[in-house]
Amino acid sequence: MLKILFYDTKSYDKEFFEKERSHYPELQIEYLKSELNPATARFAKGYDAVCAFVNCEIGTGTVRLLHENKVRLILLRCAGFNHVDVEKAKELGIKVLRVPGYSPEAVAEHAMALALAANRKMHKAYVRVRENDFSLGGMLGVNFYGKTAGIVGTGKIGAAMARICFGFGMKVLAFDKYPNSGLDFATYVTMDELLSRSDLISLHCPLTDDTYHLIQESTIQQMKDGVILVNTSRGGLVKTEDLIKGIRARKFFSVGLDVYEEEKRNVFEDRSDEILESSVTARLLSFPNVVITSHQGFFTQEALSAISEVTLKNAQAFERGEKTGNEVE
Ligand code: NAI
Repeated sequence: MLKILFYDTKSYDKEFFEKERSHYPELQIEYLKSELNPATARFAKGYDAVCAFVNCEIGTGTVRLLHENKVRLILLRCAGFNHVDVEKAKELGIKVLRVPGYSPEAVAEHAMALALAANRKMHKAYVRVRENDFSLGGMLGVNFYGKTAGIVGTGKIGAAMARICFGFGMKVLAFDKYPNSGLDFATYVTMDELLSRSDLISLHCPLTDDTYHLIQESTIQQMKDGVILVNTSRGGLVKTEDLIKGIRARKFFSVGLDVYEEEKRNVFEDRSDEILESSVTARLLSFPNVVITSHQGFFTQEALSAISEVTLKNAQAFERGEKTGNEVE
């Protein structure tokens, strides 16, 4: 029997995992609302595994505490693992398993939803019509048809976004260290060329030391005036202060963000009663051409089903001493 402590449980997590759980009699799950971080890692005493999501803090301190409490497995119910000290986990013999590519289309479709919403000012239209205001001032958009999309990172999600853009009748430029041979309709170019030629830039590479602040003052300057920028990958890819300067300088036609540097405190929480003292999020939200969502790219029924299925398969394989191909090493 593998005992799993499930951190940061939301009602939808429980719903989807409980549906799946009956297929795995050798797994025992307890649900906790708290996030996994250095203050809560000790709750895992007596468990073999913890299950965590993107907003948990699984750095050196947390990993050490998990080890001290005899935890042998970190089950990430997400694809990204930049929030985990993988080296430390390896050194201490804790296995890390993740759910790669549970539904690339979920994130790619959200990236296009953000691009369209920000372009066609859906956020303003929704509010305006509810107030019986049917005027069109400030709503002017641009066609995507015939324009150029630049996809940064053409792994599973980037490739899905590239296909969506191609379906819209866009020319597709791509940049990746490892070009995807399946995208025969896309043209691979240098990052400089992608920046200077694209009307819509969508970020789909992981956050690494190489990609941290990939979008900052100098790269923003290289972009076309009136570019649309979408980030559904990780907040750290974009230097927010420089993005704000760029928006103020009228560089961007619109910006759609599902992730942003300050999201850690906000994501999946209801902070509607709080007064924000100082916040770059609030500054970003003050611009009429910016649309922000709360890291919800993954949030579809199909993705949640796939996440619960693969996470529990990972746990079962670990219990049986089998490899899954989902090891983070
Ligand atoms: P993937 O591993 O299939 O693809 C990532 C691609 O980025 C690879 O082709 C890789 O070669 C490329 N890449 C790496 N370094 C690069 C660089 N310096 N410049 C350009 N390309 C580079 O990953 P997948 O599944 O497509 O996910 C991409 C990212 O999306 C994840 O790292 C994660 O941060 C984010 N994500 C966001 C979600 C959301 O809810 N908003 C949900 C799931 C993932």
